[in-house]
Amino acid sequence: MEVMQVLGNRRSIRYYLPHRPVEREKIQKMLEAGRRASCVGNVTVARAVVIWKDQASDEMMKAITPPIGYQQMQTAPCFILWYHDKMSYEGDKWINNMKELATQRRIGEDVEKTHAIIEKSLRPAFGAAWEQMAVAPLAFMDVGQVVAQATMAAWDEGLGTCLMSSPRIEQIGPLLNLPDTAIPVCLMSVGYPAESWEAGGQTSRPPLEDLFFEMEHGKPFKSDPAVVEELKKDGLIQTPAPLPWRDAELKYIAHALNLEFQLAVPGPAQENGDGS
Ligand SMILES: Cc1cc2nc3c(=O)[nH]c(=O)nc-3n(C[C@H](O)[C@H](O)[C@H](O)COP(=O)(O)O)c2cc1C
Repeated sequence: MEVMQVLGNRRSIRYYLPHRPVEREKIQKMLEAGRRASCVGNVTVARAVVIWKDQASDEMMKAITPPIGYQQMQTAPCFILWYHDKMSYEGDKWINNMKELATQRRIGEDVEKTHAIIEKSLRPAFGAAWEQMAVAPLAFMDVGQVVAQATMAAWDEGLGTCLMSSPRIEQIGPLLNLPDTAIPVCLMSVGYPAESWEAGGQTSRPPLEDLFFEMEHGKPFKSDPAVVEELKKDGLIQTPAPLPWRDAELKYIAHALNLEFQLAVPGPAQENGDGS
């Protein structure tokens, strides 16, 4: 599928075919796509644990269940917990990775000269600051990049996904044997959609001009209607939700999957104010 079409077709899928397993090789493709995402200094902080529902204990399923995840948790056969590991930045890791980029001939022109510049100008500034760097917004952005690429790979394989709010480390960490330095970022459900591929239409967003600017904040980046038309043809911009038959589709799915009418999973997570 073309990139724009994948981007346009993607939606958060909240209903899956519970009887249809996800092939392990498709999950591997998702992880490989994620592993190839851009990341700060090639440090690679994003980690994931794949959880197969049929192998998970009730305790595990309870612990990973986010407040707004009833349908996903009831129906998806696979989940991926995406997390960040602070230790990826430990000590000289970032400096060594930068030097490795020079050795791979990805930065700088001359390997020796680039190594010398990194030693002289970057090591003093960054060598001591790895703990701050490990929790800076840029480091977390790496996880987002990885998740986005894995999501695209899932869609290319005919799978649907939904991201869900951060589970609570105190429950999930020990159950998954996560190191103390792990910071869980989000849980992703993965499976074959029980919804039509349109899933009720494309989720609407604020206008482009409200979000993006040119030269300075507040000067809207003007949308060119000709480009919009082109993107409609390419499949990126699609009919907005809700499509007229969405209500009927939702009733049909809920009936077929024997789901209760429930959005939020009752429990302490709700009281904590977590949400989507
Ligand atoms: C970090 C993150 C956390 C989210 N948490 C939840 C969640 O807990 N439950 C849920 O149903 N959807 C969740 N979503 C999905 C968003 O609600 C959804 O992406 C948004 O409404 C846009 O719709 P779309 O993904 O269909 O384009 C989350 C999305 C992200 C990126």
